[in-house]
Amino acid sequence: MKDAFSQRLQRRADETVALLERLLGNALLPGETTRPERLLAAMRHGVFNGGKRLRPFLLIETAEIFGATGVSPTRCAAALECVHCYSLIHDDLPAMDDDDMRRGKPTVHKAFDEATAILAGDALLTLALDILADEETHADPAIRAELVLALARASGLGGMAGGQMLDLAAEGRQLGEDEIVTLQAMKTGALIRFACEAGAIVGRAGEAERAAMAQFGEKIGKAFQLADDMLDLTASPERLGKETAKDSGRGKATLVALYGLEESRRMADRLTVEALELLSPFGERAHWLEAVARFIVGRDH
Ligand code: IPE
Ligand code: IPE
Ligand code: MG
Ligand code: MG
Ligand code: MG
Repeated sequence: MKDAFSQRLQRRADETVALLERLLGNALLPGETTRPERLLAAMRHGVFNGGKRLRPFLLIETAEIFGATGVSPTRCAAALECVHCYSLIHDDLPAMDDDDMRRGKPTVHKAFDEATAILAGDALLTLALDILADEETHADPAIRAELVLALARASGLGGMAGGQMLDLAAEGRQLGEDEIVTLQAMKTGALIRFACEAGAIVGRAGEAERAAMAQFGEKIGKAFQLADDMLDLTASPERLGKETAKDSGRGKATLVALYGLEESRRMADRLTVEALELLSPFGERAHWLEAVARFIVGRDH
């Protein structure tokens, strides 16, 4: 029997995946000419391969706090998962982290080829913006525009892609804590922050509540990457579905490399406490966000 959190996570994952199945099907959207079979297959390989779907969970549960349920949050979650999966496909490329395994399967460039993996990433990123801009996502065009803007900001130069640049540039160099925190807040934190902020946007939260959710996202985003870096050292490749003990080999700038496991664990726990404090004004409504904040630092995969 799964615990209540795992069941809830599974339910949100199922909702998101069901929608992604439709969006990544053969049916053409107005304005599309054809959907090349090989590209679609590569995109599907990168998306339907057993991710934890934590970002969709964060988005849908945040939206529910503000009374938004159903199609709107699920479409936002699907869009975000597209950007996340694109980021993983590109992160694994030989020119980046050069990984052969992801979510227990060959990475997209291994299963297909590098050019196809690059294009699959490109097409997932643009599909994400397509999903958000479509009127099915929200009746109010102003909300749709806010969502597109927030996701674009989180994904690009000053967000995820920028963070990936800093991560690569840092390989083999000694970075200080502030620099590592900044690069991680960008490469991983920005999309996690978006998950929480988008939930607030789609739920038409007030400015202060939206800011609180963004801050909560920032805190757990930091904790999330700390956990990822600890798992790289402590978990098995079988459990994690990706190669481990990679970061030190590539000279990655991580807080685990700088301070060691014990201090990193303390930092992650501290971030979780701070994140939970941000939820206190929401009381019982924030139950699932509290649960996911605890899961992020306690997870074994
Ligand atoms: C892994 O993210 C990459 C990072 C941003 C650290 P996840 O651990 O959420 O990967 P999946 O989606 O569950 O495979
Ligand atoms: C990945 O960080 C961050 C993004 C994909 C944006 P990592 O390189 O540490 O992720 P894993 O360990 O390969 O999943
Ligand atoms: Mg990387
Ligand atoms: Mg990597
Ligand atoms: Mg990692």
